[in-house]
Amino acid sequence: MLDQLETLREEALAALQMISDSASLQAWEGQYIGRKGALTQLLRGMGGLSPEERPIFGKTANEVKQILTAAHDERQQLIQDRELAQDLEQGEIDITLPGRTAQIGGLHPSTQVLRRFYQIWGDMGFQVYRTRDVETDDMNFTMLNFPPHHPARDMQDTFYTTQPDVILRTHTSAGQIRAMWEYGDHGTKPIRVVLPGMCYRFEQITARSEVQFHQIEGIAIGKNIRMTDLKGTITEFAKRMFHPKAGVRFRASYFPFTEPSMEVDVECCVCGGKGCNLCKYSGWLEIAGCGMIHPVVLQNGGYDPAEWSGFAFGMGPERTAMLKHRITDIRYFWANDQRFLGQF
Ligand code: DAH
Repeated sequence: MLDQLETLREEALAALQMISDSASLQAWEGQYIGRKGALTQLLRGMGGLSPEERPIFGKTANEVKQILTAAHDERQQLIQDRELAQDLEQGEIDITLPGRTAQIGGLHPSTQVLRRFYQIWGDMGFQVYRTRDVETDDMNFTMLNFPPHHPARDMQDTFYTTQPDVILRTHTSAGQIRAMWEYGDHGTKPIRVVLPGMCYRFEQITARSEVQFHQIEGIAIGKNIRMTDLKGTITEFAKRMFHPKAGVRFRASYFPFTEPSMEVDVECCVCGGKGCNLCKYSGWLEIAGCGMIHPVVLQNGGYDPAEWSGFAFGMGPERTAMLKHRITDIRYFWANDQRFLGQF
């Protein structure tokens, strides 16, 4: 029987030398060292040996198995290397073609502009506070000095919900009172906060107006805050956001929650003030509404208007992005068109 093992070993090794592909190697494995292979068959016959012969046979069989397995593994490596080299040389993959770059998403242009806002206002000491999109009529209007039938409520077409007095905020000013309550500590602490967020208005969608858009609101309340602080702060913002040498002008305006109220224009970033179709030949672009916080609003926020004063402003990130990038239609922002979004 030991002779048989020896013969098996020689035969198997000789056969292995002839093998040059994976399929044949697999067949070889089955034939000689697999569970139903020749070696196993020989081991089965061990029962017929004498007790003295059995351990010798077992030991030799094990050695043969180890030799064959090692030879198999070595052969396998050789074949795999060769097959890989062949594949690379003449396979279907043309390794000389340039790779396909992976598509990586980017930040939405509104998000990018919002982040720039946070950076500029953050550098000037304002903290960022997100208030709710779904608001009460009270917070959005009444507390901001819009009495129930005040004509200014008509300036904004509101989305109402099925809950009485619960609406989608029409402006981020709706968060002013919440910010005063949250940070003012019952009207005892000065605050500087910006309130970014989505606003909603039931409006005709056109190139200039959408039913949803971002705003960023700012309020600063302290003991000696005056109009000059407001003008200086907004001017500094405009220079950082648009151009260090950009001219800024303030025009008298009206908002129920500020007194006095103003609108802010920055010199047109396209024509530099000479006049073009972006600025409608005026040389100026409107960037914000602002004013000194109305005493009634301060009071609603917990502050004593005899002691405290403050300014507020509201800006539109989409509008800012449109001015900065000369985007002519606000509808692009929410149309999910990659050709538009991919440019930023
Ligand atoms: N809430 C105003 C709007 O949506 C914008 C605004 C104007 C906000 C003046 C202010 C402000 O804080 O002082 O049109």
